[in-house]
Amino acid sequence: MSLHYLVKTIFKDLEEDHFKILRILEKNMRKYEVVPQEVIVRQSNLDESSIEKLVKKLNLYKLIWSPRGRTKGYILNYNGLDLLALNNLVKKNLVESIGKSLGVGKEADVYEALSPSGENIALKFFRIGRTSFKGYGKKRPSLSLIHSHLHASMEAARREFQALKILHPEGVAVPEPIAREKHIVVTKIFRGVEISSAQFIKDPSKIFSKILDNIIRMYNSGIVHSDLSIYNILVTQSEEIVIIDWPQWVRIDHPMAHVYLSRDLTNLIKYFRRRWRINIIQREYQDFIDKILGETFNTAKDKNLLKGVSG
Ligand SMILES: Nc1ncnc2c1ncn2[C@@H]1O[C@H](COP(=O)(O)OP(=O)(O)OP(=O)(O)O)[C@@H](O)[C@H]1O
Ligand SMILES: [Mg+2]
Repeated sequence: MSLHYLVKTIFKDLEEDHFKILRILEKNMRKYEVVPQEVIVRQSNLDESSIEKLVKKLNLYKLIWSPRGRTKGYILNYNGLDLLALNNLVKKNLVESIGKSLGVGKEADVYEALSPSGENIALKFFRIGRTSFKGYGKKRPSLSLIHSHLHASMEAARREFQALKILHPEGVAVPEPIAREKHIVVTKIFRGVEISSAQFIKDPSKIFSKILDNIIRMYNSGIVHSDLSIYNILVTQSEEIVIIDWPQWVRIDHPMAHVYLSRDLTNLIKYFRRRWRINIIQREYQDFIDKILGETFNTAKDKNLLKGVSG
């Protein structure tokens, strides 16, 4: 089901009590793999027959799912979570309408949107476990897995938003954070493409310097990205950059922080050397690279990589 269909057709046909049910399912999904009907009765102050009618519609629209089992109950799915979160964003006066898709990643869908004041914003919907929903029917994921994927998506959104909130004020080139709602991160939009597919780059050495400058800023703010690659850095025609995709960041005192940082650095060094023939970089950046890789690796093979960078 497309997000546009969800928003344009289904959203308008729901009432506050439908959202009440979705909210109860969301609140209880950590506790139950299937939220029992009696829990809904208890927490909603609605009578059983109204609940029957409400869940029937939610079920018909595929926002929830009611597995056959001994006790009657319901499972929230991504459609339901999307509408619940979007409803909150609308109520908080943060989102007015959804526009076109900006990108589909492994773990998220990103859409352009409009704020009530007419500002262009980006909505990132985390979709952890989505691939395992394919072939639904044949290889149905276990019930508890569905809920734990929704929870993991909300957790990923929370983590990403936290990183943006720390880094943006520090002057690190990240999307400007606006809000986080359930599994959705709202930021300002950035009109760029992934470095991997940018054919227009004229000054790759300047872009590499900007990236290294940002890595050092992050490091000085106590943060390591941990999944940094040319796919997670966007660049505009005027060669401005922004670093995206933050759910897996760690603090520099994390036991693996230096290993992750070294991996991020070596990925980028290798790419800029291979694709753009950049071997020599500014002293300050070289010093930082030597320090980090030197602290992390001690094998002959990795020392070679170190030498390679300075040409
Ligand atoms: N703030 C933004 N402004 C404009 N486009 C964006 C923004 N954030 C993300 N995008 C687009 O959406 C795509 C996917 O975003 P992102 O890398 O954050 O998602 P992901 O699903 O975690 O990716 P991955 O496949 O690496 O797991 C990006 O490659 C980019 O094209
Ligand atoms: Mg990505």
